[in-house]
Amino acid sequence: MLPPCRGLLWLGLVLGSVCSSLESAAPGELATDPLNVLLIIVDDLRPSLGCYGDQLIRSPNIDQLASHSLLFQNAFAQQAVCAPSRVSFLTGRRPDTTRLYDFNSYWRVHAGNFSTIPQYFKENGYVTMSVGKVFHPGISSNHSDDSPYSWSIPPYHPSSEKYENTKTCRGPDGDLHANLLCPVDVADVPEGTLPDKQSTEEAIRLLEKMKTSTSPFFLAVGYHKPHIPFRYPKEFQKLYPLENITLAPDPQVPAGLPPVAYNPWMDIRQREDVQALNLSMPYGPIPVDFQRKIRQSYFASVSYLDTQVGRLLSALDDLQLANSTIIAFTSDHGWALGEHGEWAKYSNFDVTTRVPLMFYVPGRTAPFPDAGEKLFSYIDPFDPLSEVMEPGRQALDLVELLSLFPTLAGLAGLHVPPRCPSPSFHVELCREGQNLLKYFRFHDSEEDPYLHANPRELIAYSQYPRPADSPQWNSDKPSLKDIKVMGYSIRTIDYRYTVWVTFNPDEFLANFSDVHAGELYLVDSDPLQDHNMYNDTQGGDLPLSLMP
Ligand SMILES: *[C@@H]1O[C@H](CO)[C@@H](O)[C@H](O)[C@H]1NC(C)=O
Ligand SMILES: *[C@@H]1O[C@H](CO)[C@@H](O)[C@H](O)[C@H]1NC(C)=O
Ligand SMILES: *[C@@H]1O[C@H](CO)[C@@H](O)[C@H](O)[C@H]1NC(C)=O
Ligand SMILES: *[C@@H]1O[C@H](CO)[C@@H](O)[C@H](O)[C@H]1NC(C)=O
Ligand SMILES: *[C@@H]1O[C@H](CO)[C@@H](O)[C@H](O)[C@H]1NC(C)=O
Ligand SMILES: *[C@@H]1O[C@H](CO)[C@@H](O)[C@H](O)[C@H]1NC(C)=O
Ligand SMILES: *[C@@H]1O[C@H](CO)[C@@H](O)[C@H](O)[C@H]1NC(C)=O
Repeated sequence: MLPPCRGLLWLGLVLGSVCSSLESAAPGELATDPLNVLLIIVDDLRPSLGCYGDQLIRSPNIDQLASHSLLFQNAFAQQAVCAPSRVSFLTGRRPDTTRLYDFNSYWRVHAGNFSTIPQYFKENGYVTMSVGKVFHPGISSNHSDDSPYSWSIPPYHPSSEKYENTKTCRGPDGDLHANLLCPVDVADVPEGTLPDKQSTEEAIRLLEKMKTSTSPFFLAVGYHKPHIPFRYPKEFQKLYPLENITLAPDPQVPAGLPPVAYNPWMDIRQREDVQALNLSMPYGPIPVDFQRKIRQSYFASVSYLDTQVGRLLSALDDLQLANSTIIAFTSDHGWALGEHGEWAKYSNFDVTTRVPLMFYVPGRTAPFPDAGEKLFSYIDPFDPLSEVMEPGRQALDLVELLSLFPTLAGLAGLHVPPRCPSPSFHVELCREGQNLLKYFRFHDSEEDPYLHANPRELIAYSQYPRPADSPQWNSDKPSLKDIKVMGYSIRTIDYRYTVWVTFNPDEFLANFSDVHAGELYLVDSDPLQDHNMYNDTQGGDLPLSLMP
């Protein structure tokens, strides 16, 4: 039995080609109501969540979302740093096409006038709205979050975000510092609130407004935590007693790690509390008790984030919008918490490229809620009696964050943009990512919640630039002109393979004949990626191309 036909979703799945003739129709002219979209983008969130099997993390609200969603277990970002990743997945193009590897250019003038996910929805009759950090602020979105192209109304930024990097963290000395670890008493901080709380409130206000709208909406909500500094309500620390916090299972810099692959986590070193540790550059290490504190604050920030997601989703429920709204949840990239002796993002390892990715589609990933039924009641993470949620459907196949554009378009019943030609700088609307719609075709007879396509054919591509072969002050975030080496990385179900090759930033040319270093990690025997087998396989051919 198939779920009842709602909106264009079902049409899009069965009659993909028919939708192209419908795409120009105004939503009001369609036989059924189109689905709304709520896109939640979290900053620097690796899949340290209950629904991804993490036993320590309290994330009951995100787990509840997962229980009604299709969750992708193996989703990877295309570059593990904010602006390049966001511009990539929001335009549906790889960093080599957006030509954004740093923070310093706006793709429309620098690479091509590429359409974005919200722009596409806007052009198809949606009211599109941005709350919090969706595009990376600054040059990379023309200081306007790509307004007016992407958004129907001016993007909202929480007023308290300006305090994120100021001295608002009470240290053991009683003074205020710009620390990395920043549990706060919310009543005490400037404005008495935090950015993510304000974003949740604004998003709920917009949902209330949209309740009576005749047009469908596309609301993107970008949360700031768990990005550093770890500035979060201090009560969340109680969920993670220090004595229960373990170190990363592989806290040493591996012997076989090429220096070019290592990121020296400069942004962490610059915080006042970390500076006081007098760490040696570039390899540290951070004292183990401080490592535990970083992990504790990251996890506490995740639980705080979870409460914001919970408030937002329960409001959606209360407004009876859960039967007409697709919810997509993801992050711009992962974050190392001491694995390989590394912290932060800025690398090609799984721990920094792997992201949570899940989609709730009413009537498809879960039955339509009955009138008055609550799918997303708020769950208090402090409630010891709150049940662990049953996982929903899961897909194990490797997918790329790039898939978000075609997949959201398809799920909403819009025409899925065509595949990009190569090169595609002159094409405003096309996609470099896979359309994941096939994973949403469920059958009642299907007992196995784990879905597979042809896992051995699937590849996720990521890349990371470096200014030099050894770690230096700008290795994490080189400006375009300083890029000398590009690490191109492929992840298959069996291995991660990375080559660091000469890169010419004037011509945007990578020279694959000029390999500076290589990495090969086997997934089965070395899931944490600590044993580089590259030299052992030199001369042997790997079956897959390094260029997408
Ligand atoms: C870029 O795309 C936008 C949105 O479609 C359009 O308004 C604008 O005119 C385009 N700019 C150029 C230079 O083609
Ligand atoms: C970027 O913003 C500036 C200032 O608002 C504006 O003049 C310019 O047209 C924008 N660029 C594009 C491509 O829209
Ligand atoms: C900490 O670990 C102890 C021992 O395993 C366990 O009983 C306790 O519930 C844990 N506390 C939390 C908050 O997870
Ligand atoms: C691999 O070979 C290169 C070149 O001989 C050498 O510099 C590097 O240290 C080797 N790496 C490992 C992990 O043995
Ligand atoms: C760091 O260095 C300063 C100045 O040399 C010293 O006063 C301080 O005790 C050192 N801190 C640690 C944690 O070693
Ligand atoms: C969603 O549920 C509400 C309340 O039961 C109902 O009024 C509304 O028509 C439903 N919307 C859709 C699209 O089914
Ligand atoms: C690429 O690198 C190889 C090996 O160093 C070199 O011979 C060749 O000239 C380079 N190609 C370009 C276009 O720079």
